[in-house]
Amino acid sequence: MAPLAAGCLLLLFSFCSVRRTAASWNTSRNLTEPTPVVIWHGMGDSCCNPLSMGFIKKLVEQEIPRIYVLSLEIGNTITEDMENSFFMNVNDQVALVCNILSKDKKLQDGYNAMGFSQGGQFLRAVAQRCPSPAMVNLITFGGQHQGVYGLPHCPGVSSHICNWIRKMLNLGAYSSPIQEHLVQAEYWHDPLNEDLYRNKSIFLADINQERGINESYKENLMKLKKFVMVKFSSDTMVDPVDSEWFGFYKAGQAKETYTLKESVLYQEDRLGLKAMDKVKKLEFLTANGDHLQFSEEWFIKNIVPYLK
Ligand SMILES: *[C@@H]1O[C@H](CO)[C@@H](O)[C@H](O)[C@H]1NC(C)=O
Ligand SMILES: *[C@@H]1O[C@H](CO)[C@@H](O)[C@H](O)[C@H]1NC(C)=O
Ligand SMILES: *[C@@H]1O[C@H](CO)[C@@H](O)[C@H](O)[C@H]1NC(C)=O
Ligand SMILES: *[C@@H]1O[C@H](CO)[C@@H](O)[C@H](O)[C@H]1NC(C)=O
Repeated sequence: MAPLAAGCLLLLFSFCSVRRTAASWNTSRNLTEPTPVVIWHGMGDSCCNPLSMGFIKKLVEQEIPRIYVLSLEIGNTITEDMENSFFMNVNDQVALVCNILSKDKKLQDGYNAMGFSQGGQFLRAVAQRCPSPAMVNLITFGGQHQGVYGLPHCPGVSSHICNWIRKMLNLGAYSSPIQEHLVQAEYWHDPLNEDLYRNKSIFLADINQERGINESYKENLMKLKKFVMVKFSSDTMVDPVDSEWFGFYKAGQAKETYTLKESVLYQEDRLGLKAMDKVKKLEFLTANGDHLQFSEEWFIKNIVPYLK
């Protein structure tokens, strides 16, 4: 027996069993191992801030022993990660993440995904575009599934960046240089210019099947076991809050809103959401609080069950 294998047997049994599973990866998961979790942070945040994503990661690890939690870092440093949440083309970010996930051996039997704020719609794009490895449950916290029409507040230190972003959005959110480089423009949804949004939005209009139906988006999203959308009842950062449950402003004004069920997206079932709803795959949760504000107890009671 080769020394490596012998050492492996004696000292690294658990490591070896992981590798053995790796060699025979297929669609049936090893149910004795917890399903890993992938986290995507929001605007102005990073993978590893101990007060945000770092805290969530720890909480999940504490609640589910032995779980593997990957908090995505977009870029090589925390600063790059934060900057990219404003300035890196979202389609490129999604492609980068798909590549990270496809190479991570620990995820190949499937994973659950939690997206915070814009990370929610970005992970939905991952589900729609990159079916392998398989996403099992998708949970979005204050995600803007129908985009935003306003940027009323910005997280902490990044408020000067936000002022600049607002200026750019006003200048022309749908002009191609701004679309290519400004993350928030890529999910900017102007209800006064639905046509322009439909034609020019390089990210959101694409994943929401506004220009046509990509059957694989639909097929892939429908593979989810559960799609859980958390809305924050007193959210002051997302305009309109309805977007967190796939609602939005009715065309031509910015006051009255429609719900997912009233939308063309649902009624024509362009994305498979209606079919998912019929088989109870959609969950609509409400958290009482401002954007991304919830207690540890709330998380443990309402979210952890989807991760087990
Ligand atoms: C998948 O893996 C399980 C457990 O290792 C095994 O029993 C099963 O035969 C495999 N299925 C396929 C199609 O390879
Ligand atoms: C599943 O994982 C456990 C714990 O790592 C391991 O003991 C067991 O052999 C694995 N089962 C299969 C079928 O791979
Ligand atoms: C549909 O989406 C897949 C996955 O992103 C992509 O490879 C394909 O080109 C798209 N098809 C069309 C017609 O846009
Ligand atoms: C959007 O595209 C359609 C089809 O190409 C075109 O008829 C329409 O004029 C465009 N509208 C705007 C506002 O760009």
